[in-house]
Amino acid sequence: MLVDGGQVLAWAQANGGAAGSFNTYNLETTRAIITAAEAENAPIFLAVGRGALDYGGFELLAGMCVTAATGASVPVALHLDHALELDLVERAVGAGFTSFMVDGSALPLADNISLLSRARALVADLSLEGELGGVTGDEDRAENPGTVGERNPVSDALTDPNEAARLVAATGVNSLAVAIGNAHGVYRGEPRLDLARLAAIHRVVPVPLVLHGASGLAPELIRACIGNGVVKINVNTEIRRAFYASLGSGVARPDHGFDLVGLFTPAMAAMTGVVRSMIQLFRSPEPIRA
Ligand code: G3H
Ligand code: ZN
Repeated sequence: MLVDGGQVLAWAQANGGAAGSFNTYNLETTRAIITAAEAENAPIFLAVGRGALDYGGFELLAGMCVTAATGASVPVALHLDHALELDLVERAVGAGFTSFMVDGSALPLADNISLLSRARALVADLSLEGELGGVTGDEDRAENPGTVGERNPVSDALTDPNEAARLVAATGVNSLAVAIGNAHGVYRGEPRLDLARLAAIHRVVPVPLVLHGASGLAPELIRACIGNGVVKINVNTEIRRAFYASLGSGVARPDHGFDLVGLFTPAMAAMTGVVRSMIQLFRSPEPIRA
C-alpha cells in the first residue's frame, strides 16, 4: 500500500532499525524492490531520482511506481530522491509521491533553508527530507573519493551539528541526510565514517537521520549508523551492480536466443536478493552505539 514517508520512518523507529530506500529506474528494478519488501514483510521507500525520471519519462515511470506501491502488500512510500528544483517537487506531489528529498546541500545554509521552506509549503504534511553537507559522487553513476579527508572543504564539507539543528528547526523537515564521509557510488579504498560527528548530530537534531551512499559500507558501519540516529538508509549502486552482473552473464551465454524475459528474470531475482539482504541488515536487532 502507498503510505506517507513518515509512516515508514515511524515503523523503523519503533523497531529499533532503519528503513531501506531503494532506487528504481524501470520495470525490472521496481518489481525487484517490491518483491524483496514483500518477502521480508518490511515497509520501504521506493526512491526515484531525476535521472531515472528523465530516462523513463516522468508520467510513465511515476505512474508505474504509484501502481506498484499501491498494489504492494507492505507499506511503500514513493520517494522523490535528490530533487534540486521545486517544479519537479510540485509535479511529483501531483503524481502521487508521498515522500520528498529536496537537496540544497550545495547551497549556502541560508539558501538551503529557504529552498526547504518553500518545499515544505508545496508538500504540505507529506514527508520532507533535507540534506546538509556534501555527499560526493553522482547519484546515478558515481565515482567518488569516498573517504574522510579527501574532500573539498567548501563544497564537500561534512555536516556541522549546530547548523543541522538550525536547519531542522527553521524548515520543519521530517528527516535529515548527513555527510559523515559517506559517498554515492563505488568507494575507492576503505570507506571511513565520522561516527563521532554522527553521534553529535544525533544529540542535537530531533528528527530521524538519513544515510546516503550505503552501497559498499561494511555491516558494522551500517549498524553503528543505526545506533546513532540513522533511521533511513539509501541504496542504489549495489542494486545496479547486481543488475549488471546478471545481464552480463545472460548476454554472454552462447544459447541466449535473444530472449528478453529469460535475460531479465534472473536479473530481477539478483536485485531482489540484494534488497532482501539489505533489509535484513537494516533491521538488525543489535545496533552499535558510538
Ligand atoms: O540517494 C541514493 C543513495 O544515496 C544511493 O547511494 O548508490 O552509493 O548506494 P549508493
Ligand atoms: Zn543519495
